Amino acid sequence: MDPTDRAELHDRLTLLSDWLSLGSRQERPEPVFEMPDPPREDGPRAGPEWLDAPFTPETLSKVETDVLRCAKCRLALNRKYAVFGEGVLNPPVLVVGEGPGEEEDKQGKPFVGPAGRLLDKMLAAVDLDRTRNCYIANIVKCRPPMNRDPAPDERETCMPYLERQIRFLRPKVILALGRTAAQTLLKTERGVAALRGSFHDRKGVPLLVTYHPSAILRDEALKRPAWEDLKKLRAFLDDGPAT
Ligand code: URA
Repeated sequence: MDPTDRAELHDRLTLLSDWLSLGSRQERPEPVFEMPDPPREDGPRAGPEWLDAPFTPETLSKVETDVLRCAKCRLALNRKYAVFGEGVLNPPVLVVGEGPGEEEDKQGKPFVGPAGRLLDKMLAAVDLDRTRNCYIANIVKCRPPMNRDPAPDERETCMPYLERQIRFLRPKVILALGRTAAQTLLKTERGVAALRGSFHDRKGVPLLVTYHPSAILRDEALKRPAWEDLKKLRAFLDDGPAT
């Protein structure tokens, strides 16, 4: 069998086997397949252009390697660690924040500073947890200096990584924390107060917006509406979309 067909067949069979035996997609090492020699420069092309490219099935660790090596924007210059994200595969909930802060940059993990501690409590209140049923990631993977908002070009440069994470993880629902996450994911200029309260369709995945835990730490009055949002999320997970 042609190596390209073999690679594709392998990918499909592992996916099918994951779903049949485990009900979810598993991370696996990338298989290595021998590729045919590329057509010679001076000769006629032997097939379509993509035949020349090595077959590399997407895995989460491949995306992570790309993020950890990334130097596509100025944020890479001052980071200690790029923060890829963490949590379970096929998560019921993908939580998306803005970008790493000081503590996250030091540890290479998302939401481990003061806002992270509050986030963990908020999630626990509706039986969610990054070790059991959530995945946590950010719009930008490197810390903006002085915790400033990530600039539009930094968000745009980094978003393909989150898109690849989403495609691989296939979350049931996305929880966008704060203005940057909500506006970037929904491609809108509207604020959190206008966007929260109902589910949005984000490329076929339901998305709920709520306040960022850092904002709640600054303004206690946001606690109550954020709690309402989390209850809505819980009801969605338990009962599906409200009719
Ligand atoms: N704030 C964010 O938006 N993300 C983190 O990972 C930490 C703080």
